[in-house]
Amino acid sequence: MTEKIAGKTLEEWVKESPIIDTLVNGEVVFWINDKKKGFEEAKDTVQFNRADVIDAEERLQRFAPFIKQEFADTEALDGLIESPITHLEAFQKELEDRYQVNIAGQLYLKRDDLLPIAGTIKARGAIYEVLCHAETLALESGLLESTEVNYRVFSEPKFREYFSQFKVIVGTTGNLGISTGVMAAKFGFDAIIHMSNDAKQWKKDYLRSHGVTVIEHNTNFTEAVNQGRIAAEADPQSYFVDDENSKYLFLGYTTAASRLKKQLDQEGIKVDADHPLFVYLPCGVGGSPGGITFGLKHTFGDNVHCFFAEPSHVPSLLLGLITGEYANVSVFDFGIDGKTVMDGLAVPRTSQLVAPLMENFFDGGYTVLEDEASQTLTRLVDVEKISLEPAAVAGLSGPAKLFKTQAGQAYLSAKGLMDKQDQITHIAWATGGSMVPDEDKKAFYEAGLVK
Ligand SMILES: Cc1ncc(COP(=O)(O)O)c(C=O)c1O
Repeated sequence: MTEKIAGKTLEEWVKESPIIDTLVNGEVVFWINDKKKGFEEAKDTVQFNRADVIDAEERLQRFAPFIKQEFADTEALDGLIESPITHLEAFQKELEDRYQVNIAGQLYLKRDDLLPIAGTIKARGAIYEVLCHAETLALESGLLESTEVNYRVFSEPKFREYFSQFKVIVGTTGNLGISTGVMAAKFGFDAIIHMSNDAKQWKKDYLRSHGVTVIEHNTNFTEAVNQGRIAAEADPQSYFVDDENSKYLFLGYTTAASRLKKQLDQEGIKVDADHPLFVYLPCGVGGSPGGITFGLKHTFGDNVHCFFAEPSHVPSLLLGLITGEYANVSVFDFGIDGKTVMDGLAVPRTSQLVAPLMENFFDGGYTVLEDEASQTLTRLVDVEKISLEPAAVAGLSGPAKLFKTQAGQAYLSAKGLMDKQDQITHIAWATGGSMVPDEDKKAFYEAGLVK
């Protein structure tokens, strides 16, 4: 009997959506989400709204004095965890030459590789979730009298002592663990990180050096998350940061949007119907690109266009959305091996929280080949002297693919943007890299040298 995937054979899936054949063959795709609604309609159909985003922004603001006190690298931004944007004039030309295509508009890089504390996009969600948990426990216990007091009190020994009886547990390919672990340990929680076999050794070493317990699993991301969840369920004193399902992670990511708007305003970069913003986000389980997209749509409405980038060996969100089965299907079900140098994106099954939500908001997705990512990483070092980790470069090929592919051209035309292309601002979201040890940086660089 032919094996079925969520009730259908592979042949049936391919017949229904021929693009699945391209994905199964590991070839690149550029896919437009035709189920997306206009923002005004979409915003009323989901469980989160603008008030949730504002609530998250206010919580981060309340904790800013504590963060500023505890992490010297947040001093300049008064305790806000934020990253700059960099104009990539020379690299835009490099992309044009490599992909043999004209890229209209201006290309920028959002530097979450430089984000304070953990140097990765995952810090936005992870740190926010740890703050939520600490605030809830502190209010319940009476240690924190109200949300009106100065949150510098969280540095007092009695808080650390109280939190030390609780565990914070997470399952991760690495970066979520770094962000959660470092922040949880700072509060005094017992932080335990379950890591998948994709996690890099330096990430484990780094966490251990920060007093965090690392449990190594010889399994993929989905299984490492499961192991963490099981461990947390067995212990009433523990709290599980659930990369696949957490609304707190999601809301933490959303807060990037209003800050980006401020930065663009400061740079004099307009975003409106005549000056569209295109954002390209690396996608693993979908939480960080999903949350940021949700925030961006609430900030810029239909004038922002968000595309997610996945490795051609791990197109889990694309398969989840194209089939409409979301987290019911994994890349393995389709015979795709899930192996990638882009370790942060090595997630075989998408998030059941984020995938259905994104169906309403994100504009499309594309896949990136292994060599393509490696070469982008190396050329970015050569041309701009910026060194990212492999997962973090996935957004950079987005503008080239938008203009090079038929699907991209059709998208621009359908949105009435053909005569506004020169006014496009493209932002590739760099999601990590500053913490990578020199030895690993060298190996990544060498892997992308064209032989
Ligand atoms: C460097 C990097 N970029 C992007 C992502 C994708 O984030 P998400 O898994 O929330 O989609 C991750 C996830 O760990 C990551 O480590």
